[in-house]
Order: sequence, then structure tokens, then C-alpha cells
Amino acid sequence: MKVKKAVIPAAGFGTRFLPATKVVPKELLPIVDKPTIQYIMEEVASAGIEEVILITGREKGSIEDHFDTSTELENHLRKKGRNDLLKIVQEISEMVTLVSVRQKEPLGLGHAILCAKKIVGQEPFAVLLGDDLIDAKVPCIRQMMEVYQEMEGGLLAIQKVPKPETPLYGIIKGKKVGDRVYSVEEMVEKPEPGKAPSNLAIIGRYILPPQIFDILENVQPDRRGEIQLTDGLRELRREVPIYGYEFLGDRYDAGDKLGYLQANLSFGLRHPELGPKLKKYLKNITL
Ligand code: G1P
Repeated sequence: MKVKKAVIPAAGFGTRFLPATKVVPKELLPIVDKPTIQYIMEEVASAGIEEVILITGREKGSIEDHFDTSTELENHLRKKGRNDLLKIVQEISEMVTLVSVRQKEPLGLGHAILCAKKIVGQEPFAVLLGDDLIDAKVPCIRQMMEVYQEMEGGLLAIQKVPKPETPLYGIIKGKKVGDRVYSVEEMVEKPEPGKAPSNLAIIGRYILPPQIFDILENVQPDRRGEIQLTDGLRELRREVPIYGYEFLGDRYDAGDKLGYLQANLSFGLRHPELGPKLKKYLKNITL
């Protein structure tokens, strides 16, 4: 079945980026000149997904505004003859159809996804987490859609991480069954390195069947009171096969200050206008 919908959770408080995120949603913090969430939307659009379900919370209205038309701004740019900028601004609002659902309480990633149940209905759907910025020739979710064509069940993006970092991720135990594809046998959310079943980490791209919703409704909250998606996935594996796909591309944790700076440098160095100047600046910097 074709994947036509994507769920993007964006309800978090962005506490790791305070005070920047006191009024600006973390999803709108820019990597060079584009909000992080726009990179995610571009990835979605490139994969032919038609509808995005944004899970939002309080003070997140400006994310929707960013993807809406802005008549005043467009008129202003037209009057000034800035057709280059006008084109950029118009393309953003034409990218995807956006529907938003409020997550009324911050009860975890599993709960955020559950908020999309009614809108997704009975079809497989993609999930993209905004903190995971993936720079790839073929956008990660598009790579996954190609792999998913030949399978049923769930598909998770995975990447090898250094062992000390396993407490930051969901970690899988898997058996290699194809080129970059693993059959998932076990999943543990944020294990200590000594307890991690491997160093294959789940990265924030998923293709999931609709059965996950009924499962998430019954998942017990963890000790922090949050409903974890990984716990739901473990239950889902009893019903359908789950695969991990080691995607091609570089991933940045844009939800972490260092990862955010690294992403800015990396995208900045490849920016047609800024790249050469930034390179020159970095070469001359004395550390
Ligand atoms: C979430 C998931 C985790 C996954 C990670 C990827 O954790 O719960 O399994 O490895 O995203 O970024 P979070 O980073 O939201 O705590």
C-alpha cells in the first residue's frame, strides 16, 4: 500500500534550547537560513507524500504560519521586484497539505503519534522526528519508501552509533536479511551501553502500519509518565514483521546544541553564496 501521509511530532517545549525557545518553537530555529522543520517538509514532499499531520502544542501556531501563504509579504516582495525571494516564499506554502492536531499534554512520543489516529485512518504512514536532520543524496524517507514497497509491517531507519551513546536512542537487535536491511528481533529504549543489544540505533524516520495506534492506546507509561513509541513497536512486532534500514546519508541531532552547530557549519559550507566565505573564515580562525 502506498504511503500518503506523514506524521511530524512538534509539540515539545524545546527545553534543551532555552532561552531561544521561550517564544520561538525549536522547529523554527534555522539551519543557515531555513527552519529545521522546513528541511523535514522538503524530505516529505520529495517522497511524494501528500499530507502532513503536524502534532503541535501551545505556542506552536507560527509553524503553521510558516507553511501558509503570506499575502502581505508576497505583495511587498512583488512591489520591490524581489521575484527570487517571492518564489522561495511561495514554494514553501505549496509544498504539502498540512493538518494540525494538538497534543494536549506532553505524554511522550508514542502519545504524540496516537493523536494522529483519526486522520491517518487504516493505512501505513510515515513518521519523521524534527530533531533528526538527515543530509542525503536521496532523502532518507524516500529511500525507505523504496525499500518498503517490497515489505509489510514496520520499517525503522537505523544507524550505527558509538557504544557510549546507546542511552540516547532506541537500540535494536537485528539479523541482516538484505542489503542494509535487518529483521528486528528486539528493541530497547535508551539502554545503558552494557545492556544494549547492539550499536544499531533507531533514528527518527519510521514507516508504520495502522495497527500501531490500537497498540499505543494500551501501552503503559514509563517511569517518567511517558508513552514510548519503542514500547509500542515491541508489541507491534508480535503481530507483524519489523525491519531496520541502514539509510545512506549524514544525520545531525539538531535538537542538541553541538549537533545544531555542526549542522549549521556543514550546510553553511555547502551554501552556494556563504560556503567559500565561511571556509575562508574557518581556515583563518585560531583555536
Ligand atoms: C526518540 C525515540 C528513540 C529514537 C530517537 C531518535 O527519542 O524514542 O527510540 O532513537 O528518538 O532520535 P528522543 O530523542 O525523542 O528522546
